[in-house]
Amino acid sequence: MTRGYRVAVVGATGVVGTTMLELLRERSFPASEIVPFATERSAGRELDGGLVVRALNEEADLRGFDLALFSAGAGTSREWAPRFVEAGATVVDNSSAWRRDPSIPLVVSEVNPHALERHRGLIANPNCSTMQMLVALAPIHRRAGIERLVVSTYQSVSGTGKKAVDELDAQSRASLNHKDPPAPEVYPEPIAFNVIGAAGNFADGDDHTDEERKMMFETRKILEAPEIGVAVTCGRVPVRVGHSEAVNVQTRDAIGPEEVRELLASAPGVEVAEAVPTPLKAEGRDEVFVGRIRADESHPRAFSMWIVSDNLRKGAATNAVQIAELVAGVRSAPQLA
Ligand SMILES: NC(=O)c1ccc[n+]([C@@H]2O[C@H](COP(=O)([O-])OP(=O)(O)OC[C@H]3O[C@@H](n4cnc5c(N)ncnc54)[C@H](OP(=O)(O)O)[C@@H]3O)[C@@H](O)[C@H]2O)c1
Repeated sequence: MTRGYRVAVVGATGVVGTTMLELLRERSFPASEIVPFATERSAGRELDGGLVVRALNEEADLRGFDLALFSAGAGTSREWAPRFVEAGATVVDNSSAWRRDPSIPLVVSEVNPHALERHRGLIANPNCSTMQMLVALAPIHRRAGIERLVVSTYQSVSGTGKKAVDELDAQSRASLNHKDPPAPEVYPEPIAFNVIGAAGNFADGDDHTDEERKMMFETRKILEAPEIGVAVTCGRVPVRVGHSEAVNVQTRDAIGPEEVRELLASAPGVEVAEAVPTPLKAEGRDEVFVGRIRADESHPRAFSMWIVSDNLRKGAATNAVQIAELVAGVRSAPQLA
């Protein structure tokens, strides 16, 4: 019999935090208590299910938590995650704050659960686009050795958070009503009826966005393969939920589309789709959907595929809760092919 765990959810009013709370309920996580935290603005708000939000401030009582699931931005994680660890909790952090730290495991539950063995209180959850891609790519890497990836992403606005979903809705509504859409605030260009060919932000002097850098760095760290080449363009599209990715994979050993299909059919967390996967079909699901697996006729050791998943679920909250389940010992790691 598993004991009850006391769980803090930090960023509980955001799009990821809300999904985390749903998943803890849905997966019957053995929690003795779940405490939602957000800013002082949200303190006292009653959430679906009756939980009342607490402010994360100097008066907050951080004692007595077994687990803390963070999705409140990198600044909040940098400041507060170590304090939760200090108070005795294991933190699973969704932000980018700790992913590059070599001492902190960056874990996809179906790909490198063994990395959890060396955690010292803090575990990082990967970026959503990297997460879904690696659930599909890890079995291929283990079988044939990935040499190079060429990736284009078509990322939904919920990947940027609640304000971005509201921005898409407001601009779409205005355009459909033949009114001037409100000026963009979250994105540099209007997102409704548009495509922005650079998701994320540019650091000074860098011609790649931070989203693209995350996919390059995190892919190599999680697969423990610093030699893999990653060419990536991250784009933002007017979709509420669900990221799509066109991925070209070049391997060390030749592997045909049929073998890829067979490998993925038995891979944990993957569903090989007969029809072309779409974000609307993936929304609300935990699987990573893979379709259009086909040979790359321009290269003898390359193939292409189309990968779609719900960025709020497997791309963020589902993986965080799966890590919590592994840490708490309520589930064992999947068998890897
Ligand atoms: N969206 C995705 O697909 C996705 C995927 C992977 C990782 N992530 C990461 O998850 C984090 C949250 O993303 P999101 O998309 O859920 O954003 P969001 O919808 O904007 O929600 C942000 C949440 O953080 C809370 N918050 C902000 N500053 C805080 C502070 N100083 N103290 C306590 N709570 C604070 C907000 O509380 P209030 O409501 O009170 O303002 C809200 O609950 C980010 O680090 C993001 O990079 C997101």
